[in-house]
Amino acid sequence: MILVTGGAGFIGSNFILNWLAHRDEPVLNVDKLTYAGNAATLRGVEHDSRYVFAQVDICDREAIDGLIQKHQPRAILHFAAESHVDRSIRGPGEFVQTNVVGTFTMLEAATAWYRTLSGGQREAFRFLHVSTDEVYGSLEPNDPAFNERTPYAPSSPYSASKAASDHLVRAWHHTYGLPTLTTNCSNNYGPYQFPEKLIPLTITNALGGKALPVYGDGRNVRDWLYVEDHCEAIDVVLDRGVPGETYNIGGCNELANIDVVKTICRFLDELKPTSSGVPYAQQIQFVTDRPGHDRRYAIDARRIESELGWRPAQTFETGLHKTVQWYLDNTEWVEGVTSGEYRCWIETHYV
Ligand code: NAD
Ligand code: TYD
Repeated sequence: MILVTGGAGFIGSNFILNWLAHRDEPVLNVDKLTYAGNAATLRGVEHDSRYVFAQVDICDREAIDGLIQKHQPRAILHFAAESHVDRSIRGPGEFVQTNVVGTFTMLEAATAWYRTLSGGQREAFRFLHVSTDEVYGSLEPNDPAFNERTPYAPSSPYSASKAASDHLVRAWHHTYGLPTLTTNCSNNYGPYQFPEKLIPLTITNALGGKALPVYGDGRNVRDWLYVEDHCEAIDVVLDRGVPGETYNIGGCNELANIDVVKTICRFLDELKPTSSGVPYAQQIQFVTDRPGHDRRYAIDARRIESELGWRPAQTFETGLHKTVQWYLDNTEWVEGVTSGEYRCWIETHYV
């Protein structure tokens, strides 16, 4: 089986649902269930005999060792992280703990397990570390996109902690020979994303008749990738990636935040017009900028395309349309995750 950490979060749960839909191999999901982890997302596979869930903190070495001994994974896919930049600015401690100490703990446990393997099992074992393009820092408007040789220059506590985790993964490969794979991906969007990130926040706020907060001048640029395309890329890297290597994954969809928000408003006007007939874009509100806000991210994904044959299936228009429709069809899921802790964050952050 494969062991997935953080499988109750946005990307991890999409990955598990896709995996179980297309493959027979069982999955062990190790997740602490922080505010960002939602067991409800995986309700559809809860009783599937190929799915096992363990509520465990990745920093708990003893518990991780016990799970590895019991389930003997042929690969570990490490998604678990604290992932929201704004939260990292307000409380960086958890980010260092989970992203740095947690990754260190997973690497130690994986290395100990790898050492016990021999023959074909040893050959086949992989530790796949899921990371972000934010480790490369911020681009100027005309800079070339990030490639796998771009120097690291993280600028938020989140990206610094992810950069640290990438360095640990690299070191565990070079020093201990652990067969690692690292992926650095651009901004994801799609079903089951917690509505504190830009796209689901905009959709849910719009439907709730609330302000659509756009930081600063709204001209910060992100390279958006539909989450299923990211999951597909991870699959491909797991199967065909070269141990010790890094693969950048991106959507080739660079957009300014204000254009993303306006596109969401346009789709909502079409799919669920307001009862008053007033366009959703009237709810847009420019708010105080994020401190140290990175101006632009862009991914050069030529390596994964030429070496492993992956390219995204969705354009931003098709992926975003599906996403807006998904949030319209799944209001129950949204209500389930926007509980006390969520309201508290929104009230504090957007004061
Ligand atoms: P998420 O915040 O939605 O989910 C994180 C999951 O990890 C949650 O289920 C949470 O409960 C779990 N978790 C947190 N701390 C844990 C701990 N100490 N022990 C066990 N589980 C713990 O994050 P996401 O958006 O799904 O991101 C997944 C990974 O992909 C992260 O490593 C992130 O850095 C990376 N990434 C995300 C994006 C994006 O746009 N969301 C883009 C590129 C890379
Ligand atoms: P976010 O979804 O938090 O992802 P990241 O910070 O990892 O890129 O934010 C995406 C962009 O949207 C980023 O430039 C910040 C901006 N943003 C807003 O303008 N308003 C908001 O309310 C949020 C949450 C983000």
